[in-house]
Amino acid sequence: MNEKNTKFLNFGSLNQDMVYSVDHTVRPGETTASSKLEFFCGGKGLNQSIALARAGAKVFHAGCVGSDGERLLEKLKENDIDTSLIKKCDMPSGHAIIQVDKNGQNSILLFGGANKQIDEEQIARVLSDFKASDKLFLQNEINDVDKIIAAASEKSIEIILNPSPFGDEILSYPLDKITWFVVNETEANELTGESDPDKILSVFSEKYPSAKILLTLGSEGSICKANGKVYHQKIFNVPVADTTAAGDTFLGFFFALVDTHGIESTLKYASAASAVAVSRNGASSSIPKLYEVEDFLKNI
Ligand code: RIB
Repeated sequence: MNEKNTKFLNFGSLNQDMVYSVDHTVRPGETTASSKLEFFCGGKGLNQSIALARAGAKVFHAGCVGSDGERLLEKLKENDIDTSLIKKCDMPSGHAIIQVDKNGQNSILLFGGANKQIDEEQIARVLSDFKASDKLFLQNEINDVDKIIAAASEKSIEIILNPSPFGDEILSYPLDKITWFVVNETEANELTGESDPDKILSVFSEKYPSAKILLTLGSEGSICKANGKVYHQKIFNVPVADTTAAGDTFLGFFFALVDTHGIESTLKYASAASAVAVSRNGASSSIPKLYEVEDFLKNI
C-alpha cells in the first residue's frame, strides 16, 4: 500500500475468452475454419485489474459472475486481487468470441451475461469501502456505468474511464466527473469529433477542462496530457502474436506506476508492457509482471 493508502478499485467486466486462430476475420456471409481454439480469462475489467496488480498495485475488483465464473475468480486471486466485492448471479458469466488473424489483429464479439447484472445495491455497498483520493477504474462492458460515476464522484473518488467498447450511451454519462480519460483513436473521435491528435487534445481540454487524457494511437504510440503538459511516447517494435489486451496492459501499468515514477518514465514502462503483451497469445495470460518489463527495457 502506498503512503496515502490509496486503494485501487476496478468495477469491471469478467469474460471467458474463446480465441480462434484464423487466416482472416470471417466476412459477412462467409463460413471459414479456424486452426486453433484456446480458452483464456479476459474482459477489459479483469485484464486491467491483472495489469495493475502485475505492475505492483493492490487491486479490489468489483463486478458480477455466474456460477460458471469460478475460473475467473481464481485468476484474479492468483494475482493477489481482492474478489470479495464480486457478486455471483444466476446467469452465465460474460464471454467473448475472439478471432485472431495471421497478423495478430483481432475482432471481438461480446456477450455481456452476468457483467450486466450490476444493481444500485451493489454499487452502494462497493463504494462504501472507498474514500476520496482512492482510484476507480471503469470500462464500458458492465451496466450502470453512469450511476457508478455519479456515486463515486459524490465521494470525490478519482475516476479513470476507458470508454471501451464505445457506444452512443457513453455520451449521456456524466463525463464532467471523469479525472482521466483513457482512449484510443476511435473512442477519442467519438468523444470529440476529431481525428488529428492535437485537435483531439484541444477539444478534450475545452469540453472537460479538469480532465487528464491518455490517448493511445496504435503504431503511432501514445500521448498524455496532464496538468497543462503534453508527453509523447513511441511504441517498441516487436513481432506481433496477438494484440488482445495490449491496451488493458498499457492502462494498468500506467496507473500502477504514475504516482511514483512520473508521467514520462511511466509512459515508457506502459509502452514496454504492452509490447511484451502483444508478443504473447491471449488476454490476461499475455500481461507481463513488472520484472519482465524491466528486463525488456534493459535489453532493448
Ligand atoms: O481488451 C480485450 C478484452 O476485450 C478481451 O479479453 C475480451 O474479453 C474483451 O472484453
